[in-house]
Amino acid sequence: MSFAYGLSLFFMSVIPGAWRRTAAGAGLLAADGTVAPTIFAEMSAAAARTGAINLGQGFPDEDGPAEVLDAARRAIADGVNQYPPGRGSPDLLLAISEHQHRFYGLDVDPATEVIVTAGATEALTSALLALIDGPDDEVVVFEPYYDSYAAAVALAGARLRPVPLRTSDFQPDLDRLASAVNDRTRVILVNDPHNPTGTVFSRDALREVVRLAEKHDAVIITDEVYEHLTFRAPHTPVASLPGAASRTLTISSAGKTFAVTGWKIGWVHGPADLITAVLTVKQYLTYVNGSPFQPAVAAGLRLPDEYFSGAAELLARKHRILGEGLRAAGFAVTAPEGGYFSVADATELGGTDAAAFCRELPERVGVVAIPLTAFVSAENRHSYAGLLRFAACKRIEVLEEAAARLAAGF
Ligand SMILES: Cc1ncc(COP(=O)(O)O)c(C=O)c1O
Repeated sequence: MSFAYGLSLFFMSVIPGAWRRTAAGAGLLAADGTVAPTIFAEMSAAAARTGAINLGQGFPDEDGPAEVLDAARRAIADGVNQYPPGRGSPDLLLAISEHQHRFYGLDVDPATEVIVTAGATEALTSALLALIDGPDDEVVVFEPYYDSYAAAVALAGARLRPVPLRTSDFQPDLDRLASAVNDRTRVILVNDPHNPTGTVFSRDALREVVRLAEKHDAVIITDEVYEHLTFRAPHTPVASLPGAASRTLTISSAGKTFAVTGWKIGWVHGPADLITAVLTVKQYLTYVNGSPFQPAVAAGLRLPDEYFSGAAELLARKHRILGEGLRAAGFAVTAPEGGYFSVADATELGGTDAAAFCRELPERVGVVAIPLTAFVSAENRHSYAGLLRFAACKRIEVLEEAAARLAAGF
């Protein structure tokens, strides 16, 4: 987005009445002019009301590594409580660069090619606001998609081009991808490992993303917040594929890797010119955030390999417990290859309308889930109508209880 266009959006938002058009266009307002309620809030309220186990929202219910928590406490005690530098604390920038080299062999200049953001969400929104020039620009996303993507694309004033994942295996359909990307495509947005399906994109799919981005001169934005939570093979960042690094913004976050989702420490790295563009927006969104958490995340990124492999193994075990309960209940379950979520098909249980099914679930079996339609544009909802998303990032005993309730409930 040009700076002038960005400013006009900003001023639109403070002119009485105009903000409503912007917000309504982004799907953020309900018909009565109030903030549109989300299914996540509705389902969490249902969990609180009924005492059901909340497998709706994806946040862990136990603390992450002691080394990381202790480092944050120490930082507060040592007075690391004021604004850090705009790009992020130098030691965290260095730790991110070291981490990308250690795990993926990527070379990232900590001084010019990375910035710390308020979670992956701010990195993503800043990147879109920075790169979109106007309403003719298109952003290709794989559907279903993490719910902030469509809102951020709308706020940036671009057109969303959803490409549905194949319902058979939740992999990208390469023909549909090729026909969606064109010379108006400014950004191809990838989320791998994928929320909500748990898919790890095939190497062929990632290569095709890079080929199409090169052909149509698009930027790849890749959301890799579940990078360390893969169950079959180590994660492959898009930026590590031939031809990708010079046009890719790689986004990740400490929230999932270290079970600190409330800290909202994320980052984005890529070529210096793209990072400069992101910084021009980011400096007026939050400017900076979470100074004492930044050294703590740096400590986390430097933990030994066993921490990272152990976290993935534990999460895989949690998915197995949840999956057994779901299968015993009669759901068809797609075993996830990464991330916090398992997808279950309720069709055989009469759940052809997963949203209605989810609304009944707390009273019926004492478990809360989210319908996949919450992650899908209106025109494609029918393809996902029987599917539910369950979060496996909870304590083993909580998942065992949820699995028992599910198995006994149908
Ligand atoms: C795919 C994906 N991207 C981004 C986020 C948000 O990350 P953060 O809390 O670091 O902003 C989430 C959180 O659920 C997610 O699942």
